[in-house]
Amino acid sequence: MKIQVITLFPDMFAGVLASSMLWKAQDRGIVSYEMINLRDFGLGPRKQVDDTPYGGGDGMLLKPEPLVAAIEQAKQANPSAKVILPTPRGELYRQSAAKRLAAESPGLIIICPRYEGYDERITKWVDESFCIGSYVLTGGELPAMVIIDSIVRLLPGVLGGERSAEIESFQDDDKTIEFPQYTRPEVFQGMRVPEVLLSGHHADIEAWRQANSGGPPVVT
Ligand code: ADE
Repeated sequence: MKIQVITLFPDMFAGVLASSMLWKAQDRGIVSYEMINLRDFGLGPRKQVDDTPYGGGDGMLLKPEPLVAAIEQAKQANPSAKVILPTPRGELYRQSAAKRLAAESPGLIIICPRYEGYDERITKWVDESFCIGSYVLTGGELPAMVIIDSIVRLLPGVLGGERSAEIESFQDDDKTIEFPQYTRPEVFQGMRVPEVLLSGHHADIEAWRQANSGGPPVVT
């Protein structure tokens, strides 16, 4: 899967994409990342990318010409990619969308808005817009990283254990929350690992995990 990100702050992605599973996925050839600097498409000698809103109001909006030129360039390298727009006005981003995009989309072009937003006319070039939660961030970069992480980990060959992506939180959106887990030591600062997990009884362990999916652990 080829993932292209249109951003004014490409450096924000460096650490995230060069670490852990997102880096391994690229190293294994499962995914490739390309940062496209929106500034390169800016207008005039000052490479202008933003302007004041018609009708007045605070802040600046991303102008349509640089954004659309960047999307069109990205599309040339990846014609069947889906164009994704993170915005507080989008549909709530859920595990079901991550699964669908991981399974179906051959590529992603993710636009990262900044300032007070973007000229609405760019949505003609957008396939899906997502809100990652009911709070407002300073730009689309962090939502883009959330979306990338949630999709890349679902691509075949990225996670080690076959079942890691299967038995986990939000398998069916918010219906299933993963059970709590414990590792050594058996006693930490006076707190014991639940006895059933040390028992070796697989059916009992499964039942405890079922009972403890979706809330704090049952103390027995
Ligand atoms: N941009 C700013 N806040 C956002 C949010 N919560 N989700 C998606 N994009 C955003």
